Formats: sequence, C-alpha cells, structure tokens
Amino acid sequence: MKVLVVGSGGREHAIVLKLKESSKIDKIYCAPGNAGISQDAECVNIRATDIKALLDFAKEHNVDFTVVGMDDPLVMGIVDEFENNGLRIFGPRKNAAIIEGSKAFSKELMKKYNIPTAKYKTFNNFDEAYSYVKENKFPVVIKADGLALGKGVLICNNLSEAEAGLRQIMIDKKFGDSGSKVVIEEFLTGPEVSVLSFCDGTTVVPMVSAQDHKRAFDGDKGLNTGGMGTFSPSRIYTDEIANICMEKIFKPTVSALKKEGREFKGIIYFGLMITQEGPKVIEYNARFGDPETQVILPRLDSDLLEIFEACVDGNLDNIDVKWKDNAAACVILASGGYPESYQKGFVIEGIEECTNKDDIFVYHAGTANKDGKFITNGGRVLGITGIGKNLDEAIKKAYEGVKLVKFDSVHFRKDIGIK
Ligand code: AMP
Ligand code: GLY
Repeated sequence: MKVLVVGSGGREHAIVLKLKESSKIDKIYCAPGNAGISQDAECVNIRATDIKALLDFAKEHNVDFTVVGMDDPLVMGIVDEFENNGLRIFGPRKNAAIIEGSKAFSKELMKKYNIPTAKYKTFNNFDEAYSYVKENKFPVVIKADGLALGKGVLICNNLSEAEAGLRQIMIDKKFGDSGSKVVIEEFLTGPEVSVLSFCDGTTVVPMVSAQDHKRAFDGDKGLNTGGMGTFSPSRIYTDEIANICMEKIFKPTVSALKKEGREFKGIIYFGLMITQEGPKVIEYNARFGDPETQVILPRLDSDLLEIFEACVDGNLDNIDVKWKDNAAACVILASGGYPESYQKGFVIEGIEECTNKDDIFVYHAGTANKDGKFITNGGRVLGITGIGKNLDEAIKKAYEGVKLVKFDSVHFRKDIGIK
C-alpha cells in the first residue's frame, strides 16, 4: 500500500517510523515532512493546510490511505474532502473535529451529556465577559474558543489580568477569529494526564497514558510551550482511575458525538485533570499529541496501519491493540529562546550516532538539510526518546541520547519524567 502522512513535526516522524514497521506498506509519503522524516519517507513539498493540493497529489500518486497528524487540516475538513473524492483517510470529519476546533462546542457537549469538566460560561461580548469575571472568584481560566496554537488559554489571578486577557483575545484579536468567543471556566487543581484513544465512531480503545511537561524551564517554570518532554506511562493513572475515565468520560464522549450525528473516527486526545472530585476533562484534541506520540507509539506492539484501517472501517472491536510492558521518556531539544524568538540555521552534530543506539529514537521536529548536514529550523528541533523496562531506565536512556547531540544555543529540560 501507499500511505501519505500529513504534517511536519516530531509527532509525524513518530507516526511514519511506526508505519514503516507495517508489512502492508511499501511506500510512505509525508507532506510536507522535514529533514529527518525524509530519511524514512518521501517528503512532498505541500503545506498541511493546502487540502486541494494534497488531494490532487493523493489522486495522482494512487495513495491508498492518508493519515492526518495535525489539527488545522482536520478542523478545515480535509477528511470530508478526501472521502467525497472516494479516498480513504484516517481522522475525524469536520463536524467531529469541532471538539478541538471549538472549546464552546466541547464544553456544551460535556454539559449536555454529564461528562465531568470545569464549570463554565461562554461569551461573545467583551462587556458581558468582563462583568462576569468581576463577580467571579480568582484565579479564573479564560480560553479563546478556536485553535490558537496551544496558546489560547490564560490563567488569570486577578481582575486586571483578566481584563487584559479578555481585551487581547476579544478586542485586539490576538488569535484572530478564534477569539470572537471565549469560554470562562472555574480553575481546577490536580495532576494532569493525557490519554489518547483510537475511535471508530462507536468503539473507543485508550492507549497507554502519558504526561507532558508544558513549561519551558525545569521545575515547571517559564512560559507555556508546545511541550518540552513527555513520559509514559503516567505514575498517577492507576487502573482504578482508568476504569472511571472509561465509564464516565471516554465511552460517554464517543456515544455523545454519535448521538449528535458527529460520529468520531480517528484519535480523541483526552486532556485530563485528576481532581479531588475525580478525573475531569480539561480539553479534547482531535489528533495525536505532540510530544505524547513520541512516547506512546514506540510502546505499541500492534500494526498501526491495521488499527487505523479498523477505525475507518468501523471494526475496531475486532482488533487486539497490544502494548509493550515497558516505559518511554522523550526530551525535547529546543532552540534557545523558544517559545519566544530564537535563531535558526545551526549545524546539529551527533544525530547519526544517537539514532544508531539501541532503545533510543530520534524524532525530528524542526530540522532542515544544508550541504548534507542537519541544521536547526524551528523552536522544537528534536525529540529524543529513551525506552526502558521502567520509567527510571527510560529517562536515563533519553538523557544518554541527549548527551550525544549538540548544536549552538540548545535548550532542554533536565527534569523530564521526574514527577
Ligand atoms: P488547554 O489548552 O485547554 O489544554 O489548556 C492548557 C493548560 O491550561 C492545561 O494543560 C492546564 O494546565 C491549564 N488549564 C486549562 N483549563 C484549566 C482549568 N479549568 N483549571 C486549571 N488549569 C487549567
Ligand atoms: N502536547 C499537547 C498537544 O499536543 O496538544
């Protein structure tokens, strides 16, 4: 089979590498991919949001199956477009991807179907939103309704922060139309865990759990980033909590979407907070997480393509999704300055040596090729995943890999996997 993977980050590299293990695949394309992905797939220079060009490419090259890594094309309706043209594609249609595309929608869905989440109110008018926060307790959480590259969530500790936040989102339109509406919600506390799941519209199969370190610096200091590292499994996600999540959150979400005529096929990413009152949904995503995928997929012991096909065909209940009895940790090597401004173009040394080590995976995120050498080309440059029998071993392995790779101004956290 010929497969096309849409996206260009470490997540897509992890998807490509796992698909390479499938005996059913003889060709993998990735659009647009990156320098590292081009060693494992044929990269095609088409943007992930250029749906028309992707469709033309898939038709011209007889692509049998397409996998979408990124959120934007899903929310824009890439799956509808491919299906309308008779092509097989893995991911939710536009009317289901809305669980990530609109926080107001997903909150309403959870309220209607009694799925545990923070209490909230939705506003599309600045004055009304401001009057509401004035009467509210602090901290308060303000979220832009639409996609905002993971930056549309503000935790405000007092009225002046809340006013400034609302102004940025609703009046200055910092996130464009994504901020025409805001969700204002109660501040919850507790550890967070990410549980991604395969869905075929009816059946939901959770993957092994993971935890993400979102802040830039050690000890969870500094700005929020796309993710500085991950580990799997989570220490707090016990079997008991997993059972509660399955019954109160995962199954009800999938059946709610089906009842609403928004059958979800693809990946639902449940961002959960384990509060004193039990697990609650912080957010839904309609795709694999980045860098969660870089610790989850190396632990998968089944054929990923077979699972994807079962999701599309609606027979996931016939598939045995198996996991290895091990652990994984991923350390992100970022460009100094990320998530704010940073320089690009530094030569990266040591990638090959690191890639050749047992139990270490090097996933490329922001790399390019120049004169036959890898150079830095983004905020998050590489994800180095270590595999071990347990978390301690996996973390040790990941940092062993990190030591081998060098580039100017590199920044990484030294506490990935520790709590
Ligand atoms: P989101 O993009 O919705 O995942 O939010 C980003 C981060 O903001 C989450 O990972 C949480 O750490 C935090 N957050 C979001 N909603 C809440 C909430 N209601 N209470 C406390 N923290 C929250
Ligand atoms: N790591 C968080 C996300 O992919 O949304």
